[in-house]
Amino acid sequence: MNKNSKKLITADDPGWYKDAVIYQLHIRSFFDSNNNGIGDINGVTAKLGYLESLGVTAVWLLPFYPSPLKDDGYDIADYYGIHPDYGTLNDFKRFLREAHLRGMKVITELVLNHTSDRHEWFQKSRNAPKGSPWRDYYVWSDTPDKYNGVRIIFQDFETSNWSWDPVAKAYFWHRFYSHQPDLNFDNPQVRKEMFKVIDYWMEMGVDGMRLDAVPYLLERDGTNCENLPETYDFLRQLRSHLDKKFKNRMLLAEANQWPEDAVAYFGKGDICHMAFNFPLMPRMFMALQMEDWFPIVDIYEQIPPIPEECQWAIFLRNHDELTLEMVTDEERDYMYKVYAHDHTARINLGIRRRLAPLLNNSRRRIEILSLLLFSLPGTPVIYYGDEIGMGDNYYLGDRNGVRTPMQWTGDRNAGFSTANPQKIFLPVIIDPDYHYHSINTENQEKSLSSLLWWIRRIIAMRKQHKAFSRGGIKFLHCENQAVLAFVRRFRG
Ligand code: BGC
Repeated sequence: MNKNSKKLITADDPGWYKDAVIYQLHIRSFFDSNNNGIGDINGVTAKLGYLESLGVTAVWLLPFYPSPLKDDGYDIADYYGIHPDYGTLNDFKRFLREAHLRGMKVITELVLNHTSDRHEWFQKSRNAPKGSPWRDYYVWSDTPDKYNGVRIIFQDFETSNWSWDPVAKAYFWHRFYSHQPDLNFDNPQVRKEMFKVIDYWMEMGVDGMRLDAVPYLLERDGTNCENLPETYDFLRQLRSHLDKKFKNRMLLAEANQWPEDAVAYFGKGDICHMAFNFPLMPRMFMALQMEDWFPIVDIYEQIPPIPEECQWAIFLRNHDELTLEMVTDEERDYMYKVYAHDHTARINLGIRRRLAPLLNNSRRRIEILSLLLFSLPGTPVIYYGDEIGMGDNYYLGDRNGVRTPMQWTGDRNAGFSTANPQKIFLPVIIDPDYHYHSINTENQEKSLSSLLWWIRRIIAMRKQHKAFSRGGIKFLHCENQAVLAFVRRFRG
């Protein structure tokens, strides 16, 4: 067992998320233990040793609930189960136990804003008479004109936030795909249902939850229906519910917003413990390309301070497109021009690529951005496969190109599965520059100068100094614009 992880993450430390190194993975992409072509929970359990040896102290699992998988599991059909492709509840409990034995925390997904249209709540709602308690579980309207002007997030796929339901004979509201109806958080019954869901997973021993798409929970006429005071009020209730029942748990907000609004998800330390630093992410890429510290220092000047007990989650890439929603039009044009010249790499308002291909497979550029990830204020989140410089395949549609099987060896299916290659849920990467024959953990384990070993060393170094996880930051002025210099200091 890794000595550092034991020292930093103790079962009783309420601030564990501050010192954490989070690894984000999708069960179906990680390792297939029963060789049916789909990754499963037992596969992740089998690879805990790999994560531990990397220095990871918390694992964030993408949604694993029963789902038609039209949005890769963010379309939940039952909040209390496990998708049969991934295993059973007992497998999950065993995974939790094994992770905890290694001193690792487990973070899961709470998709509150919407469900799949296959969820029984939606089926009941669309069949229930207008004005009845079940109808009120979702947001219905007789016209598609309500909340006019609210932006469409999946703009490559949807033309309206309303869809007509022939069964209910009414329109239902959805901020994402039209198969993902938004729940009605004005309904106290819906709030209660969510508290029940949280209790269920927290009682089982989950340590933290990422609150998916959290800015869009409530709707109000005449607003953009994002970051409403009513949304923050509900989240405050949710936090106090959690604190009353459980110890040392963590809520992580996915709020892709401008700095002022993103910071509001911390409240006064009474809403979320963590939130993703969306404002920072694209600016790191901009600074690298421009060879200029300005975008980074400038965004830090705009991000208000956060409460003492709170912490940013910082990331370079994740399972979604590299979002360019919260940048100026000029900045977006620049990012597209330099990072997604090929239009096929663009989706909605973002770029569907992994870290290594974004950086033209340049080891030095990967190292520089990774150094920022591990040294700027906040808890670093590594996206699976980026620690070995995995490639992507944007021809696979939607965001599937960054969700392909993890590459373990140069063998069949990259060592992910021994199933017939035609059965694998997504094809492995065979782009010559990133082919799994050469890019895989087995090869990189053998070479101490590999990216994998480099990341491992950086993580170990980070853990030796609490200044990285808990300290303040002071930028030093450099005459040379290409040099970003800062001091991290903790208790002197
Ligand atoms: C998730 C996406 C998902 C969307 C809708 C997002 O914030 O990260 O992967 O498509 O929520 O659930």
